[in-house]
Amino acid sequence: MRKKVIAGNWKMNHSPKDTRNYFAEFNDLVKDSEHEIILCVPYIDVAAALESTHDTNIKIGTQNLNHQVAGALTGDVSVKMLEDIGIKYSIIGHSERRQFHHETDDYVNLKIKSAFDHEIVPILCVGETLYERELGIAKEKIIIQIRKDLEGLPAKFAEQMIIAYEPIWAIGTGKTASTEDANEACKLIRDEIRKMYNDDVADKIRILYGGSVKPTNAQELFNLEDIDGGLVGGASLTPKDFADIVNFDK
Ligand code: PGA
Repeated sequence: MRKKVIAGNWKMNHSPKDTRNYFAEFNDLVKDSEHEIILCVPYIDVAAALESTHDTNIKIGTQNLNHQVAGALTGDVSVKMLEDIGIKYSIIGHSERRQFHHETDDYVNLKIKSAFDHEIVPILCVGETLYERELGIAKEKIIIQIRKDLEGLPAKFAEQMIIAYEPIWAIGTGKTASTEDANEACKLIRDEIRKMYNDDVADKIRILYGGSVKPTNAQELFNLEDIDGGLVGGASLTPKDFADIVNFDK
């Protein structure tokens, strides 16, 4: 049985002060959850978030990392720095980074491997644009991303990965993929992993749905066979809404 993962992505929202206030309310609301709860916060909030969630069932992740250990890379934060402060998860290859920071699949692949070298579990994001969906090439796009992003990654790491299927047209738009489409895409990813690795890896890897997840649709989505939880943007910004999503089964 795969453990469900409910991950939040604050994107570029909340200050360190907001972060402390957030967890002062949130921690108690989810303390009885048995799911893996992860909040991916802006770098500037990491210290406050780690401090505020110490001794709780909440894990803190980042939204990006630089795959190099150190160097002349103005404005970046290295994988080693994150490892040193105890970060165990990072989103990698979010569509906003692919779009606005021109991150390619080759670059995403480097980051995934480097994350594992530093004991950080990647939350890899894949998904098609509306244009690709309308052209009828959504499946091909997802398969190409999976193949390229995981290329050369050993099975012992692949089985620990978290992959989020996020149709780009559903992110922040209020539009959610239908439950059938969401489950079908997550199954497609699992089947591709089975082809690249084996049954064991495919059965262990957690595949999430992301894109306008809300308290009102979480239960329906997360109960589907191939969906192991969600990556939540907008609705993770409010403690009560995110707690309702975490507690979808309560
Ligand atoms: P959303 O964002 O929940 O606001 O649609 C999801 C994401 O980008 O991870």
